[in-house]
Amino acid sequence: MGPRGLWGWKGLGCCLLGALLLSFSFSFSPGLRLLLLVEDAQGTWWNPTRHHEGTAAPALPGVDFGSLFSGSALEPHCESGQTLLILVASAPGNVGPRKVIRNTWAKRPLSPLHPWQAVFLVGQSLDEKAARQIQWEQQEFGDVLLGGYLDTYRNLTLKVLHGLKWAAEKCRPRFILKTDDDCFVNTNRLPAFLADHWHGGLLLYAGSVFPREKRRVIRHPVSKWYVSREDYPLEEYPPYASGIGYLLSLGAARRVLRVAEQVPPIPVEDAFVGILAQRAGLRPTTSTRFAKQNARWHLCNYRYLMVIHHLNASEQQSAAWSMREAQAACSGRPQVTGWKQRWFRSGVGQL
Ligand SMILES: *[C@@H]1O[C@H](CO)[C@@H](O)[C@H](O)[C@H]1NC(C)=O
Ligand SMILES: *[C@@H]1O[C@H](CO)[C@@H](O)[C@H](O)[C@H]1NC(C)=O
Repeated sequence: MGPRGLWGWKGLGCCLLGALLLSFSFSFSPGLRLLLLVEDAQGTWWNPTRHHEGTAAPALPGVDFGSLFSGSALEPHCESGQTLLILVASAPGNVGPRKVIRNTWAKRPLSPLHPWQAVFLVGQSLDEKAARQIQWEQQEFGDVLLGGYLDTYRNLTLKVLHGLKWAAEKCRPRFILKTDDDCFVNTNRLPAFLADHWHGGLLLYAGSVFPREKRRVIRHPVSKWYVSREDYPLEEYPPYASGIGYLLSLGAARRVLRVAEQVPPIPVEDAFVGILAQRAGLRPTTSTRFAKQNARWHLCNYRYLMVIHHLNASEQQSAAWSMREAQAACSGRPQVTGWKQRWFRSGVGQL
């Protein structure tokens, strides 16, 4: 079964159409260079050489990975052969959300059938107290990947690219999930779900893919998603999965990272990953398993949902409780495979 079948069909039509309209088919290296040249000549892309002016070595125009690694900091220990590595973007000051996550969905069973791990992505803080706190957390829990970038919202793209690079080079899990520290991850279901469908060479990029009308580039300078025409001249982003949670298979992540060396970053992290994915020839697969917090969910929905967005501390606690309860209460029940609830009618997957 292809990966698309796993994630339901809602929005796939729009994705496929968008991907067909927008995707360029090319192979790596010479093809990519040619593509950049052609686009430059037509004036429809941005100038990839304007960064790194004045540096001695001829630098690539894209993400400067060397500067993202902090060098001296301790790194999380990473076991090999993992099914899933979860990268949680977190601001240095978000001590509370990290604590809640460690005590809820990131708490690992003693010997999981499909090994997984969660790592927090945190950057440099100018606040001394916050910086000391991060050091303490890393010593205490060993689950913080401290980057060399300054931790600001506009640097989120660098944070995620650093996390992906570290994951792909040091951990090599079968899948990487990027998420945020206000999200719940179904660690009871997701690793097994992915393991069931894994095969070497699988190129999966999946999440909640934005419809076309939500992919317009925001040009209002006060917006936190503002991107200038100089940084990205097109008016619309290619199809991309929301930053609340998206999955990349290792092969897909490697492709994205390779392209990232060629493309200047924009501050909208999830859109940037979409741009890279498109250039790497990957199409996002959309899924209703990635959703916003909804008080009306039934217990058995927790056998279906993989990432839930926008939970406060008490909602994290109750989601983790539901996840555990649902395992016993809902296995083999018709709604687990049937999904009659209206918000899941289109997302029937194999469970
Ligand atoms: C991160 O953000 C700050 C402030 O917005 C900026 O000065 C810095 O150059 C950015 N990049 C890195 C790698 O820290
Ligand atoms: C969390 O959200 C729930 C539901 O929206 C609300 O009732 C509760 O007061 C919130 N709790 C905290 C600690 O903010």
